[in-house]
Amino acid sequence: MRVMVTGGAGYIGAHTSHLLAGRGDFVLIADDLSTGSRARVADFPLLEVDLAEPASVAVVADAIRTHRIDSVIHFAARKQVAESVERPAWYYQQNVGSISNLILALEVEKTCPRLVFSSTAAVYGQAGGVIDENRQPAPVNPYGASKLAGEQLIDATAAAWPLSAASLRYFNVGGSSRAELADTGASNLIPIIMDQLISGQRPGIFGSDYDTPDGSCVRDYVHVADVAEAHLVVLDWLVGHTGHDVMNVGTGTGTSVLEMVRALMDISGIRAEPQTLPRRPGDAAEVVAAVGRIATETGWQARFALDDIVASAWDARLHASVASGPV
Ligand SMILES: NC(=O)c1ccc[n+]([C@@H]2O[C@H](COP(=O)([O-])OP(=O)(O)OC[C@H]3O[C@@H](n4cnc5c(N)ncnc54)[C@H](O)[C@@H]3O)[C@@H](O)[C@H]2O)c1
Repeated sequence: MRVMVTGGAGYIGAHTSHLLAGRGDFVLIADDLSTGSRARVADFPLLEVDLAEPASVAVVADAIRTHRIDSVIHFAARKQVAESVERPAWYYQQNVGSISNLILALEVEKTCPRLVFSSTAAVYGQAGGVIDENRQPAPVNPYGASKLAGEQLIDATAAAWPLSAASLRYFNVGGSSRAELADTGASNLIPIIMDQLISGQRPGIFGSDYDTPDGSCVRDYVHVADVAEAHLVVLDWLVGHTGHDVMNVGTGTGTSVLEMVRALMDISGIRAEPQTLPRRPGDAAEVVAAVGRIATETGWQARFALDDIVASAWDARLHASVASGPV
């Protein structure tokens, strides 16, 4: 295949680009390098473009024609929930603007029939339990809402002309397949606990009286290498399919915050007594992906375990510390 990977210099995009190139696909990265890094994809051709700018339509359409692109994977987005709450209009401009401009570019010649879109479990909002794709989306922040708007636009586009598309709703992505590809800007549980352990603080647990086996919140952590592979599998599956499908990407297995803290203490060798903090408003007790649809439709299922996620995240953290000096 000949694939344009938007946001390919980012964390998940770079993992996916390397997998695609490894199986012999042509990969063109389209990225403004705002949160991505050229070093992750140093050997790949790069179209440096801000997809949220209207001028990107002509630039991307030209690149699709020049490089004979037949598939696009659209990772490029802003992804910080707190930032989206502070700057909602900018999140819509960036995330909804980018997918709109990308689709306008695809419509110039309609020669690229496949699109895979990075969506998120954030579209489910505060829903809890084991969540399947039939759960009514109800995002509770502008980030999740901007992703749902992207899905809706793709849905309408696939009804208007024969686009084959899939929106993948990732749950909690973690780990790395190589330290150099790691997520450096993440503000989620794994890096936060690693920071606390390294700096000698007690890991904070938001709520220990949830209706879960150990009282802490349960989430579904999926290795980024599995997430990357899901894109290749889904891209192949789209050949011969039309319309737009939505699929969860997770493991179907929950891990509690306390289990995660223990796993990170084991891998780091740093011991600290967790401290219970008040519950955070809006946190569901358990959020786990139902993964039946993607398995049945495409055959994909996650292969890596929690230990792999934790070990690779820790390894990448040490690598970053060595690169930037002592923490
Ligand atoms: N990391 C997660 O846990 C997670 C979970 C669910 C969904 N997602 C989604 O997956 C996608 C990739 O996430 P990531 O973790 O790799 O993030 P990332 O920030 O590492 O990568 C995003 C990439 O997109 C580029 N980009 C951003 N805005 C752009 C624009 N306007 N024009 C061109 N390039 C632009 C950035 O430079 C970066 O390379 C995002 O769409 C995100 O919303 C991520």
